[in-house]
Amino acid sequence: MKWNGLIANYSRFLPVSENTPDVSLHEGHTPLLFLENLSNLLDIELHVKVEGANPTGSFKDRGMALAVAKAKEEGSNTIVCASTGNTSASAAAYAARAGMKCVVVIPDGKIAQGKLAQAVMYGADVYSIKGNFDEALQLVKKLSEELPITLVNSLNPYRIEGQKTAAFEVCDQLGKAPDVLALPVGNAGNITAYWKGFKEYNQEFQTGLPEMRGFEAEGAAAIVKDSIIPDPETIATAIRIGNPTSWKQAVRATEESKGKIDFVTDEEMIKAYQLLARREGIFAEPASSASLAGIIKHLQQKELEKGKRVVAVLTGNGLKDPVTATEHANVKVQSLADYRQLAASFEGVSV
Ligand code: F0G
Repeated sequence: MKWNGLIANYSRFLPVSENTPDVSLHEGHTPLLFLENLSNLLDIELHVKVEGANPTGSFKDRGMALAVAKAKEEGSNTIVCASTGNTSASAAAYAARAGMKCVVVIPDGKIAQGKLAQAVMYGADVYSIKGNFDEALQLVKKLSEELPITLVNSLNPYRIEGQKTAAFEVCDQLGKAPDVLALPVGNAGNITAYWKGFKEYNQEFQTGLPEMRGFEAEGAAAIVKDSIIPDPETIATAIRIGNPTSWKQAVRATEESKGKIDFVTDEEMIKAYQLLARREGIFAEPASSASLAGIIKHLQQKELEKGKRVVAVLTGNGLKDPVTATEHANVKVQSLADYRQLAASFEGVSV
């Protein structure tokens, strides 16, 4: 099958017409992998949706493909966003593709190196502020209200429309919706988008509905604690957000689906991050591993029954954050003294 991106493939579910320009980087169509080792370990049927396989390495490309195409269609020539890293990388790439200007505002020192490298490489104007994501978002919201520029954070409804296609793909790949869909929650756009996607596909193709289980980082768990967190903190910088935009929609998604929003600790995320890499060969970024960490927590707390078919969304690629990876790999690079030392590594290996 020839894949030309999600707008071409799912156009009948999207607000597009022949006037919508093609700015696709052939995003979407990401692998849904069955994890045999972890399924055996956890006694569930565990699949992961590998969104790090998108063109800029995160799920953001789904929403950005549509948001940028629509901005261009509507005559805009500049897009703006606040970001913990992935949105800015994706916005900058699609702006470059569309021949548009891109301006991004990020929290100083709190975005992974690879994401920053992407934004500058794609040619965005990048500003950092001393504050956090929530403060950056206030700034760009104000700017987009006063100037003729397009905001491409998930307040932009086209972002949610594009991102809902991930739910379509899960149903297509699995034959129907899973029992449980687990994903990390930051600004809460993605959980809103998946739920919308599952409902639309179910209406059209009777694919069923999953329980939606979203996981915030403990230090940024505004929805779980039902209170804005003024100084969110977590190792998972992607979801270091204390006042999620789609808060209400996320709560509605979990209520309607009989799911739950919970939190996971940094320690639990790091453990899941290591398990994915070492047991399954999948390198996802720390925030992404909140989905698996949450599933493990719910199994331990008996909030999830054995044998369930679970899809955990891995939202971003581990390569974006090499510093966190090398700090938590538990393997150190050793400097090699001589041939004998190297040969000693192979002790017990026979020919
Ligand atoms: N996982 C990753 C890797 C992310 O980058 C984000 C959000 C999320 C999960 C949470 O998704 O916000 O829809 O609930 N990153 C945004 C950004 C905030 O600026 O890149 P959400």
